Amino acid sequence: MTNQVNGLSGDETLDLAGKHMVLGLSGGIACYKAAELCRALIKAGATVQVVMTEAAEQFITPVTMQALSGRPVYTSQWDSRPVNEISNNMAHINLSRGADAILIAPCSADFMAKLLHGRADDLLSLMCLARPIDKVPLLLAPAMNREMYSHPATQRNLVQLEADGATVLGVGTGFQACGETGDGRMLEPEQLLEDIIAFFAPKVLAGQHVLVTAGPTYEAIDPVRGITNLSSGKMGFAIARAAREAGAEVTLVAGPVSLPTPRGVTRIDVKSAQNMLEAITGRVQAATVFIATAAVADWRPAAPSGQKIKKDGSGHAPQLGFTENTDILATVAHSAAAQAGKLFCVGFAAESHDLLENAQAKRLRKNVPLLVGNIGPDTFGQDHNTLLLVDELGVTPLPRASKLSLARRLVQEIATRMAARTPHNRASGQQPAAS
Ligand code: CTP
Repeated sequence: MTNQVNGLSGDETLDLAGKHMVLGLSGGIACYKAAELCRALIKAGATVQVVMTEAAEQFITPVTMQALSGRPVYTSQWDSRPVNEISNNMAHINLSRGADAILIAPCSADFMAKLLHGRADDLLSLMCLARPIDKVPLLLAPAMNREMYSHPATQRNLVQLEADGATVLGVGTGFQACGETGDGRMLEPEQLLEDIIAFFAPKVLAGQHVLVTAGPTYEAIDPVRGITNLSSGKMGFAIARAAREAGAEVTLVAGPVSLPTPRGVTRIDVKSAQNMLEAITGRVQAATVFIATAAVADWRPAAPSGQKIKKDGSGHAPQLGFTENTDILATVAHSAAAQAGKLFCVGFAAESHDLLENAQAKRLRKNVPLLVGNIGPDTFGQDHNTLLLVDELGVTPLPRASKLSLARRLVQEIATRMAARTPHNRASGQQPAAS
């Protein structure tokens, strides 16, 4: 399938297909980012209706937002143009009917205060008050100077707005247009898009704490050399994102990769297999799901040199002895929590041949209820992949797709298996006892 809007091909480009968003702009310099956000929402498949306050018009013109959204922009409660072909001169009512969400970006300190008090003296605040509160969620992307953001009044308003049912998407930190540095920048358009996609995702892992390993490990030979592998970490990062979208609290323990951290995910960077084991050991008690996607080095140099190993001119290479690394997945899967069914373990198998046989054997050897097989040379560094899910009931192939799409399918499959678990068949994926 090709997305006609942005020309991208693939199954992951229309995450907001079928969604109708009302994008509200209140006054702030971050209005310039709203233009990019509007484009991003449309590229993701949404339809976007823009509503602006008078203050927002000081920063960006309705002409720009109309051109980007492909729809007339509404700025006044006295605007009598029909909305959705309804001509009753009630834009404040009609604009929110049929919307999947209202997103205020930027949401100024003043606009938050207005929302809090239920004031309705302009079209945007009037429309927010008049929205069907149970059907049309309100998402806020605050944007303001750091002093305004940290002011007790603003912080109080944020708490109360959440209590009133709004979803506050958070703020960025850094250099501000006023020249100061701190909290209060509007999130970047791509960050907001990721949060909005997550907002709409089914919360199949709500209440779960998912711990993911990802990427390669690096085993030092000396201070400037080491042994690693071609794992890019893309699958593990996609799984972390998909699990967060599904409502889980997610911790990602990542080997040396330069990928951006998915929104809302806690990331711990590690280097060696031993570092990864330590990071997991300290965190696995809080987890209910463990997903091991990392390509952990099987061996490390037994005695890494503290200094760079120099050529001695003899023509002989240095003799490196190796020590086997602890199998992190097998260690976790044999833990009391996993055996008692309190921790659902998922392993990956990167094979070069005989995928099914190797994956089945690895599942039993690692003692995990679910093992995901893939062909290593076909997946390392790639954006797409093909997976083979192996559990006690058989084999589920997941056909070739983007890693993010596969990650979302896998998260769904994990949630289904966790829901189906009973006290009888929890431990290590044993068959349910025959009755
Ligand atoms: N794994 C791990 N710790 C290790 C080695 C592997 O946690 N020291 C995990 C991987 O993250 C993956 C699974 O075990 O989930 C299988 O890894 P893989 O490299 O395919 O298998 P190995 O156990 O290394 O077996 P082999 O190399 O013989 O295929």
